[in-house]
Amino acid sequence: MTTIPVPKRVSDGAQNELHSMDAYRERWLSAQADPSGFWLRETLKSITWMTPPNQGLEGGFRTVQQTGFTWFADGELNVTESCLDRHARERPEKTAILWEGDHPSEVEHISYKSLLLRVCQAANTLISLGVQKGDRVIIYMGMVPQAAVAMLACARIGAIHSVVFGGFSAEALRDRIRDCGAEVVITQDMGLRATRQIPLKAVVDQALMGESGVHHVLVVKRTGEAVQMDPERDHWWHEAVHDQPTHCPATPCAAEDPLFILYTSGSTGRPKGLLHTCGGYLTYAAYTHRNVFDLRDDDVFACMADIGWITGHSYIVYGPLANGATTLMFESTPMCPDPSRYWDMVERHRITILYTAPTAIRTLAAQGDHFVHAHDTSSLRVLGSVGEPINPEAWLWYRDVVGQGRCTIVDTWWQTETGGICISPIAPATPTKAGSATLPMPGILAKLVDQDGHEILGPGQGYLCLSQPWPGQARTVWGDHDRYVATYFSTYPGLYFTGDGCRRDAEGYHWITGRVDDVLNVSGHRMGTAEFESAILTHDAVAECAVVGFPHAIKGQGVYAFVVPQAGATVDAGLAAELTTALRSHIGAHARVDHFQATAGLPKTRSGKVMRRILRKIVCGEADGIGDTSTLADPSIVDALLKGCQT
Ligand code: PRX
Repeated sequence: MTTIPVPKRVSDGAQNELHSMDAYRERWLSAQADPSGFWLRETLKSITWMTPPNQGLEGGFRTVQQTGFTWFADGELNVTESCLDRHARERPEKTAILWEGDHPSEVEHISYKSLLLRVCQAANTLISLGVQKGDRVIIYMGMVPQAAVAMLACARIGAIHSVVFGGFSAEALRDRIRDCGAEVVITQDMGLRATRQIPLKAVVDQALMGESGVHHVLVVKRTGEAVQMDPERDHWWHEAVHDQPTHCPATPCAAEDPLFILYTSGSTGRPKGLLHTCGGYLTYAAYTHRNVFDLRDDDVFACMADIGWITGHSYIVYGPLANGATTLMFESTPMCPDPSRYWDMVERHRITILYTAPTAIRTLAAQGDHFVHAHDTSSLRVLGSVGEPINPEAWLWYRDVVGQGRCTIVDTWWQTETGGICISPIAPATPTKAGSATLPMPGILAKLVDQDGHEILGPGQGYLCLSQPWPGQARTVWGDHDRYVATYFSTYPGLYFTGDGCRRDAEGYHWITGRVDDVLNVSGHRMGTAEFESAILTHDAVAECAVVGFPHAIKGQGVYAFVVPQAGATVDAGLAAELTTALRSHIGAHARVDHFQATAGLPKTRSGKVMRRILRKIVCGEADGIGDTSTLADPSIVDALLKGCQT
């Protein structure tokens, strides 16, 4: 464990008010004592309101079932005024979005003035298609500027966007379109990633086969590849926006009006559409972005996530734009055309803050240091990590090789549900420790509880809960508030349960140990074991199956499937290939099983419940931790499983 001295502040233009541990402690205590007052002051200072709110927090976790909780409920705003109009007025030529395409030669600087204009034209296009405030619009795109423009255009007119990651299959896309009742889909002819073409429009066509709810599909021309266009339903984006007025008044929205729905996986059932609202979400995304990363006026902020995930929403689009920053949008991968792509971009664009996932860090570290050393990375100041636990080796490589010991590392813990970063160092104030997300943000009250819900005080390990609402928190699950309450607030009444395990050390630092439920985290992609299992079970040759995660050196977690074949079937390479295809078609290409293991049965209790705990121990190589198996219906299964295990 290393404790790193706090670097000195080196330049002006800083927007971060949490510049020392004293300032951090003072703000944290003030937010704990009076959350309403703290966040009201914050939002009035940083966000443009049409009607400034007087109310802060109304309700709390105890009222979540009946009335929920609200932030700034009497305020009115349109988030695009904070993200666009005020910057277009004050710094029109500043680059808002710095886009780099799949090929390094494709670079576009979009100024705040020009982004506002493009958003207005797109918003007018949506209006011309009949989209109204509160309507849902699905965005199924790659990392092209029009994806951000589409999100902001929805926000401009009070429509609710739901971005679906471009790797999801037609079936997964159809489920989401149906669940939120979208009438418009925005996509592109092809996605482009690491020189591969991804047939986005064709997937949309497949998803909409037999569906009658979607009336319009807007198609961005990215590659110019021939695609089928339905003359009644499909419109080329460039043609549709071309003649639209470049001004579109911002629709007034209540603070608690929905801004977007984002689907995410849980332990059971289908993915949930988490709902984020305008006022609270924007306030929190902007606050955390400005403070965690020690944002300065001349920063070039590069978040390498995809906008299909929450990280892209909060730290490519809403947080940086609300703060008037220059935000990078990157279409390709860190390995394309070779493992120096990030460092080459840092040098060419003078990137100052880089935010990526541990899987990318581990992958790049494995390629050797020379790829970093070959480039001038001296512009870097803050290096962020997100999405999965970062192991100390990867953390140290990030600090010592990429950051050359000069940069602050911020390991940021948060979730789709939290809207923004909740536990993280504040750069450069918080002394860091390799592998720790350190301390909660002001306004975040982190508690560890044991299995029975008793709070663990001081150092210890337990289940991570948050005990006080914060503005960026998802308010509900679209169309199913009971599921929201049951998932997050029923395990430990009065607390929001994160689903993560966590250790707290003697200095109060948090070390996230990973999910404690049946959620997988593969390369930072969150997927439910239940989704894997139901896709595998669609195959006729499979009688039963159980899926668990195992530690993986690069991906963080790998996926292991125990398969009980139907009588007469065998689990061989042929079946594995077919199951891989089934997973691809039910979920998407990112849902891959690393090992299929045939088994005659699963370890079950006498009442028929699969003991996943035992399966986890088997694939994690922890045979000694399996414990008493005498309560199993057939204890001999465990020995057979241990013998066949491939990890
Ligand atoms: O298990 C935690 C892990 O990612 C989960 C949330 O996934 P998702 O909603 O997809 O959002 C990812 C991006 C915010 C969490 O429950 N996780 C996220 N950040 C960290 C992390 N685990 C350890 N350390 C982190 N910094």
